[in-house]
Amino acid sequence: MCGIMGYLGPEEVSGVVIGGLECLEYRGYDSAGIAVSDGRKIAISKCVGSVANLKAQMAEHPLSGRLGIGHTRWATHGGVTRENAHPHADPQGRVVLIHNGIIENFYELREELKGQGVHFSSETDTEVAVCLMATLYDGDPLAAIRKACARLRGAFAFVILFADVPDHFYCVRKGPPLVLAAPSDEAFCASDVTALLPYTNRILFMEDEEIAELSAGSIALYDFDGAPKDVRLSTVEWDASMTSKGIYPHFMLKEIEEQGSVLRRTLAGRVDGGVDLSAEFPFSDGDARRYRRVHLVACGTSYYASMVAGRLMDQFTGLDVRVETSSEYRYGHMICDAETVAVFISQSGETADTLAAARRARAGGARCLAVTNVVNSSLAREVGAVLELRAGPEIGVAATKTFMGQLAALSLLALWIGKRRGRLDRSDELRLTEELVRLPLKIESLVLQGNAIRDVAEHYMKVAGFLFIGRGLSCAIGMEGALKLKEISYIHAEAHAAGEMKHGPIAMLDVNLPVVAVVPRDLFYEKTLSNLQEARARNAPIVAIATEGDGEISRFASDCIFVPATEDELTPFLTIVPLQLFAYHLASLMGREIDRPRNLAKSVTVE
Ligand code: AGP
Repeated sequence: MCGIMGYLGPEEVSGVVIGGLECLEYRGYDSAGIAVSDGRKIAISKCVGSVANLKAQMAEHPLSGRLGIGHTRWATHGGVTRENAHPHADPQGRVVLIHNGIIENFYELREELKGQGVHFSSETDTEVAVCLMATLYDGDPLAAIRKACARLRGAFAFVILFADVPDHFYCVRKGPPLVLAAPSDEAFCASDVTALLPYTNRILFMEDEEIAELSAGSIALYDFDGAPKDVRLSTVEWDASMTSKGIYPHFMLKEIEEQGSVLRRTLAGRVDGGVDLSAEFPFSDGDARRYRRVHLVACGTSYYASMVAGRLMDQFTGLDVRVETSSEYRYGHMICDAETVAVFISQSGETADTLAAARRARAGGARCLAVTNVVNSSLAREVGAVLELRAGPEIGVAATKTFMGQLAALSLLALWIGKRRGRLDRSDELRLTEELVRLPLKIESLVLQGNAIRDVAEHYMKVAGFLFIGRGLSCAIGMEGALKLKEISYIHAEAHAAGEMKHGPIAMLDVNLPVVAVVPRDLFYEKTLSNLQEARARNAPIVAIATEGDGEISRFASDCIFVPATEDELTPFLTIVPLQLFAYHLASLMGREIDRPRNLAKSVTVE
């Protein structure tokens, strides 16, 4: 949450920093701001709303310099106001800072500083941090930062300017991510690597409890005690073209349409006459038999992918399977020991709840694996073993193509664990892996139905809510479909196991509450049809996601969207695509900010 960008170098800083903020705006868009040093003093420009507003403000009142920092905010402490927007400065303007995270003891520090005569002009925890640093500053920036960090509790990524040190800037990480680079005579920092790709792919991923001092072409790294550390640069395989919208009106649509190729990439080298994940997640025969439990732990969309995987794990591994949201897992009491395989699923690899959950599992001695799209993420480094999604950077706040990558990676994992434990029949392994490699073409054929799905969405523009239902794997897909719709259209949508409808949700049904049913031709088909009868008897309009060739479903549904036939265990790969497109088109028809839905941020780095 919150986008951070810093630059020092020969270019005019405002262009570089604002370009970076535009790239990072999916991390927060409540307000935006920039601070620029002209070599003597630091000037600040900030405003409520998007980076576009800041850009317009800067066009009228430009700030010029070669060192600067910028921020897009996702509000935590204090409302969405100009005063609360970052950067923040101490009252004398000696220190200026931007922040991502939460300072838990800000109130007591604020009272202490007030007692020393410090005047605050915002409601933020961030202003407390900058004023604390300013009171501790006596000409040695690193010492002031270290002393301040020792007093702060919580999670923070800071980028700090000192007015009397115009050739350096400083970064601190304790929790939220920060990446650095210092190609030739420049230096950069950002909260996400995508903002740096136009300049370099040689990146330093800061570790927790590190302080960096950046100057032109150079990075010095220290721990919180001031001891120097090695500067570890990694080469990132992504490039800047992957972060452009191209011909698409929204990243979300581009990312939905990319899903066939994402699936090909996720499967590449892992499926060949069966499944083989030995390079990423090796097991000895002894280990494979010793495990008793598998935990799948994630948030949001990643959690729904885990629900799908949990069912496949039940079917193929013979392990005791538990699927849990990270925020609950962290504080739960389930056994998590050396006989447990704990899998943490996170697109970004930066979700604070999932990181905390992984620490719990590691402390219990579980065998841990991260399933993530970002191989250098905090989660990947925390856990060690990584199964990469290979989806490429996902910019739309509503996750789509990474969900596809997660379905693929987790399905392979279920098959792989089952195989190593001797629980997966060879015929099932071949049946499913052969169909997996056929799925990309089927997904690509589905994407071509975009206009027809838009026509269906048009019928529902005025409704106040939806009920999504499905059974088995389709229950999880209903939940993910409802989440997509909520996130980008703001229409109320709730999802239930179809069999649960009669235990309560059916009370809501009438002509004004459409039911979206995920009803492929699988084991549950007839049972779900019965539930649709019940919905129809209450006059609820029905949108059905069904299998091509299903002649019966149109007797029940007001609108049908068909997906190609596939193996029962793999229906989620296809049924999710029309639901993503349905949410996309409905939101688009309603004129919503699709890639930047209100109140959300792509990477949730606070608990
Ligand atoms: C998905 O559309 C959401 N933006 C959100 O639910 C997301 O899946 C969740 O915050 C988890 O993120 P992660 O996969 O990066 O951990």
